[in-house]
Amino acid sequence: MSKNRRQFLTESLALLAAGRLSGQARPASLRAFDRPARALLAQMTLDEKIGQMTQPDQMFLKSIDDIDTYHLGSLLSGGDSDPKAGNGLIAWTDLYDLYQSRALKTRLKIPLLYGIDAVHGHNNVLGAVIFPHNIGLGCARDAGLVERAAQITATEVRASGPQWAFAPCVAVPQDIRWGRTYEGFSEDPRVVRELGLAAVRGLQKDSLGNPQAVLACSKHFAGDGGTTAKMVVPPDHPDRPAQFKLDQGDTQIDEATLRRIHLQGYMSTVPAGVRSIMPSYSSWNGVKCSGNHHLLTEILKKEMGFEGFLISDYAAVNQLPEKTYKEQIAHSINAGMDMVMVPEKYVEFFTFLGELVHAKSVPLARIDDAVLRILRVKLAMGLMDASRSQLADRGLHRSFGSAEHRAVARECVRKSLVLLKNDGRTLPLSKGAARIHVAGKSADNIGNQCGGWTVKWQGQTGPVVPGGTTVLAAVKKAVSSATQVTTSADGSGAAGATLGIAVVGETPYAEFMGDRQDLRLAPEDVAVIETMKSTGIPVVVILFSGRPLVIDAILPRADAVVAAFLPGTEGDGIADVLFGDAAPAGKLSFTWPRGDSSSLHRGDAGYKTLFPLGFGLGY
Ligand code: BGC
Repeated sequence: MSKNRRQFLTESLALLAAGRLSGQARPASLRAFDRPARALLAQMTLDEKIGQMTQPDQMFLKSIDDIDTYHLGSLLSGGDSDPKAGNGLIAWTDLYDLYQSRALKTRLKIPLLYGIDAVHGHNNVLGAVIFPHNIGLGCARDAGLVERAAQITATEVRASGPQWAFAPCVAVPQDIRWGRTYEGFSEDPRVVRELGLAAVRGLQKDSLGNPQAVLACSKHFAGDGGTTAKMVVPPDHPDRPAQFKLDQGDTQIDEATLRRIHLQGYMSTVPAGVRSIMPSYSSWNGVKCSGNHHLLTEILKKEMGFEGFLISDYAAVNQLPEKTYKEQIAHSINAGMDMVMVPEKYVEFFTFLGELVHAKSVPLARIDDAVLRILRVKLAMGLMDASRSQLADRGLHRSFGSAEHRAVARECVRKSLVLLKNDGRTLPLSKGAARIHVAGKSADNIGNQCGGWTVKWQGQTGPVVPGGTTVLAAVKKAVSSATQVTTSADGSGAAGATLGIAVVGETPYAEFMGDRQDLRLAPEDVAVIETMKSTGIPVVVILFSGRPLVIDAILPRADAVVAAFLPGTEGDGIADVLFGDAAPAGKLSFTWPRGDSSSLHRGDAGYKTLFPLGFGLGY
């Protein structure tokens, strides 16, 4: 046994002993499904095998019959890949059922695995409950709660059909300028390890075979949160100025550091039984993860004993250094990739991979290994169980976005809020105040409250999600009938109020679109607080953001500051804390920088801390 493997097993046992896998035995090995999987494999043509490894995005399917023609084993809906009939639950369920019914009519009748980015609830579908993004859950640091939230997400996903969530993201973001910071639970690998495990347990429930569980997917393997910032001139626009870029970059660290920080989320989720893992777009010391044999095959499959399958990120294989797509495919599959999120050029992928096998550039044994891995997961999920319908369980529509589900999200919000400042005991507020003025661009903006990956890939500002409660609505619900609640976007009209609440911060973004060097609160946000403060009333600031922001401009003026990160649809959880029905309990999952830092990258020489990791006041 190698030293690393021994260390991995020792650490996994330590996690078990610490009770973090308590209440659930270590999941049974997938090898129990080898026999039926091999029997099926023996019946399959090469084309049928390659089809199992091909995952187009449904929006690029040229014809539904391509499911049969190319023997497709999987489909996804990536960001903005919505049903043509809209984003409602029925439209999504009909879409899934349409594709699945077609797959069930193919020669081998192997059901499709349908994957979707359910990263904070079933966030693509209108009416789903939207949970806080992981950064907020990291502040709550309640593994049991993360598990319950993930269980609800699984149930809501299954209600619409798909059986696979591309979650949890177990990135350990080390640089808050990264646009994906909020997808990570924390900069602290211990928190990621603990909550990643809880999320996998919740998504996959008591067993993958549970028809209300979904297949989880730990992502993005490995080191996605450790990339080095650089300035890049857009290749297609050499005339434009260079842009700040961290996403999909290069993580320049030694293997010991990679293991100590960025592999921790896999150290817990692999033993917990995660059965799919998504290699990262990013590189490690100049080598793209989607083509790194050492990472994918040596470390993940051999050393960690990962028994599931690898799904590439969206068109990530196209980023490998080879000149042709065919060479890129050979590189990735030979490195250990099992299924490819193609997502558009599926005919080319299918054709090229077949040619590569005939030319012996990809060994048939590698194809068989990939397909075996996929099939045994499908078997473990009960997808090949003839006594079970593979169509969506529409009975689950009843609980979709239900009050019961929202209550758990509200608890997540309540527990994730971090109180950064509370001068003169401004908080908690009285429910009987004469007038409360609620202002700021995000006070009544559920889109800003939810952030990216909400209905749209990039999220959207405004009333994009039905159901749920904005801060303004939550305050109105919470106060006494004698209290007047007034509002304005710019802070005007505060004069004479008992106190003001300003809800400000970032507007939605996702992935590279959120890479930002300047994290200062927008001048319009600062102005809201100044306008309210100039009337002499106490002002409570609530920040919505995907990461710590530079708040030096408002800190001296605000009487209280609450970091809410991206709490999702349940604004009532904010009111719970504002009015003292619950005490603030969140502790920062990321270090918070001071505005006079010469770099906002923790670890750089000029970085200065405003609030340390773990900071959070109580009442
Ligand atoms: C993201 C992944 C996501 C995939 C599918 C990619 O752009 O990096 O996190 O799962 O798209 O939507």
